Amino acid sequence: MKDASPSAPAPQTIYLKDYTPFGWTVEDVHLTFRLAPHATRVIARIHFAPNPAAPQQDFFLHGEELTLIRAAVNGEAVSPELVPGGLKCTVPFAPFLWEAEVEIDPANNTALEGLYMSSGMYCTQCEAEGFRKITYYPDRPDVMSVFTVRVESEMPVMLSNGNPGASGDSFAEWHDPWPKPAYLFALVAGDLRNHPDSFTTKSGAKVDLNIWVRPGDEGKCAFGMEALKASMKWDEDVYGREYDLDVFNIVAVDDFNMGAMENKGLNIFNSSCVLASPETSTDDNFERIEAIIAHEYFHNWTGNRITCRDWFQLCLKEGLTVYRDSQFTADMRGAAVKRINDVRDLRARQFPEDQGPLSHPVRPESFQEINNFYTATVYEKGAEVIGMLKRLVGDEAYAKALDLYFDRHDGDAATIEDWLKVFEDTTGRDLTQFKRWYSQSGTPRLSVSEDWKDGTFTLTFEQHTPPTPGQDEKLPQVLPIAVGLLSPNGDEVQATTVLEMTEARQAFSFDGLSARPRASVLRAFSAPVVLHQALSREDRAFLLAHDTDPFNRWEAGNELARDCLLAMIAEGATPDTLWLDGLETLLRDTALDPDFRACMLGLPGQSELAQQLHERGHTPDPDAIYDALQTLQQFRAERWSDLLPKLAAEARVDAPYAPNAEQTGKRALGTAVLHLLSRTDGGAAAQAQFDGADNMTLQLASLACLIRAGKAEPAVQAFYEQWQNDRLVMDKWFGLQVSMAEPGRAVTVAEALTAHVKFDWKNPNRFRAVFGALIGNHAGFHRADGSGYALLADWLIRLDDKNPQTTARMCSAFQTWTRYDDGRRAQAKTAMERIMAKPNLSRDVNEMVSRILAG
Ligand code: ARG
Ligand code: ZN
Repeated sequence: MKDASPSAPAPQTIYLKDYTPFGWTVEDVHLTFRLAPHATRVIARIHFAPNPAAPQQDFFLHGEELTLIRAAVNGEAVSPELVPGGLKCTVPFAPFLWEAEVEIDPANNTALEGLYMSSGMYCTQCEAEGFRKITYYPDRPDVMSVFTVRVESEMPVMLSNGNPGASGDSFAEWHDPWPKPAYLFALVAGDLRNHPDSFTTKSGAKVDLNIWVRPGDEGKCAFGMEALKASMKWDEDVYGREYDLDVFNIVAVDDFNMGAMENKGLNIFNSSCVLASPETSTDDNFERIEAIIAHEYFHNWTGNRITCRDWFQLCLKEGLTVYRDSQFTADMRGAAVKRINDVRDLRARQFPEDQGPLSHPVRPESFQEINNFYTATVYEKGAEVIGMLKRLVGDEAYAKALDLYFDRHDGDAATIEDWLKVFEDTTGRDLTQFKRWYSQSGTPRLSVSEDWKDGTFTLTFEQHTPPTPGQDEKLPQVLPIAVGLLSPNGDEVQATTVLEMTEARQAFSFDGLSARPRASVLRAFSAPVVLHQALSREDRAFLLAHDTDPFNRWEAGNELARDCLLAMIAEGATPDTLWLDGLETLLRDTALDPDFRACMLGLPGQSELAQQLHERGHTPDPDAIYDALQTLQQFRAERWSDLLPKLAAEARVDAPYAPNAEQTGKRALGTAVLHLLSRTDGGAAAQAQFDGADNMTLQLASLACLIRAGKAEPAVQAFYEQWQNDRLVMDKWFGLQVSMAEPGRAVTVAEALTAHVKFDWKNPNRFRAVFGALIGNHAGFHRADGSGYALLADWLIRLDDKNPQTTARMCSAFQTWTRYDDGRRAQAKTAMERIMAKPNLSRDVNEMVSRILAG
């Protein structure tokens, strides 16, 4: 028998409410892989037993793009019925042994899901539903089992999950003692080099650590290894979590759809998220790599030891793990700037999602393609929800609840209900209303008004959440609102206190005050809402000067910047000098950390301004937004001609390059200053920095300034010659030319780059370098003539046949299309309709574009 399964089932909506356990348990799994690029054989031996906790059902195993060679039940050959998405088979109602041999074609697997090849090595990506492209299996997270794997090939290095077993010239065996769902399965084989190290856990177990890379990349592993050891130590110290195998392997892969993957004992990383060196990586790259290594490592407990019952519960592991990795980064690098950056990111990525056609709850209730739900809402809003919970119950109760969670659910495939129950049990609180954060989509709008009478200061809050697709009626959320009060001379008269808002409208009073205070509301951004506070410019300038909460101090400046820009865009106003003078005082304050001052120099992004205009009833004009930002930057550069050289001097680092918080902060300030300086000096300072740079942070920052100053050549050429053989640096080279291009040229530049010999469109990093940068060039992408939309659509149509996942993710570029004028809307609609008309459109892209069009 030799028969191919129909590749994928027809698009179908899956509902949370339909959850049913699988009818069998899996006692153990033995897999043998005979690797060959076009004809890999996978031989599976699996012991099934009837699941007493499940209703009776037909025996169905998932399977896609598999060629079934033979199958047997208890040693007897069987002929299963191949159906869309898998197979059905008659099996005994008793424990039995399932055997199947299938053939797969890793070299032709361009979707990068299942077993595939990247630069000559075999690797896997199984989350969420990739294991079904490796063998027939109940590919669902609530089916957990112990895996033993044998890999046969001529590759020098062969890895899988767990601990190493026997190995020889052309085989290696691995055994993972921890029961796990199939999405955590991993296999790697290739000609790899390792960067070894070790870690001794707090109970004295020695763990071998390795980062595996392609020959030539050995010199880019040291930083990732240090980050891994720091993560292991941090999780012991802060969460009491120890590692639980003899080895921990990380592999760097060049072709990868996402950032990285937490496979048990064998994390697989997009090479951009692990390889680093001072010459080739920026400070931002280092910080991101440290965070992603931590994130994947932390999944060992929040994700692997305790996994998800079904994919609707994705935020159970992702929201919590993002929350944990941001705590880690805050501890490693400073809490204030980390919080500011996280909120900027939330507003840039999650707010547009939650306020547009793709809006969905942190725990979605239905999906067609689960890969479309690895979103900023599930991850980042999911992490915000955990931060709110911690703030409501307090640090001590949070720690107790987490201990109970690990204790009670170790080995489980758990749900959000299980998660909340540990908090209810530790604190005695009823979290019924809080749970709305998991089911109600949309960003709440919170407004606040003040009253002052006889020594009593009252804050009255009102909340409402606008309707979102599929949810017309919204109920009040539980909002932890962190508030502090300042006296008129700037002293804190009320330290941060958390007001717990549960009603649509609620007032909170502070009495015994001798003078009317100034309120600092929503400190540290204590809830993911849009806050409306009717403050005058003077009020905000006061907070900018005096707020003791660093986030709100930054926020006061950010709101002044936003209002200044909105007035410039909508009314042609001149820049707000009250704000700029307040900001200047702060920039001159050498007691403030350089990285905080660098944040203060930042401006709201173009897309965020477009959203703000839209909310105020204007139709955003991308060119006007771009022009206002240019005018403001030019104005600041001229006004601060005496300040900027002083800041540049302060930002100088004389010590040898290190990606630590102190140096990184200085360079961040230096970069913000260089962008201003190069508007008045014709690019001289940037050219000098470019010529003398001995690290990528300084080199790339100066190249960006030169491109913007219209002095790109010959620096762009020199950079190319220096780095043409380094893929990760070439991604930067591709991206920067598009992101820094003037809006009128961005589409032309992007299109020209797609014809470059080094443009490998099947490599997701390279594709995203060009098109991610185009999407991020707001006025460039949203050209009135529709050329940005058309170019993106052309390439998405092309990529869809090869890699639906990456294509679908990039469709979100269109999610804000209804904000704009009729002309742009018509152009965007045409582009999306062209995508929808593509023959054999993937269900990933079909789902994304239909949702965007319907919104
Ligand atoms: N669990 C991974 C992480 O957050 C992400 C993998 C997502 N993969 C996917 N195909 N959707 O670290
Ligand atoms: Zn994750």
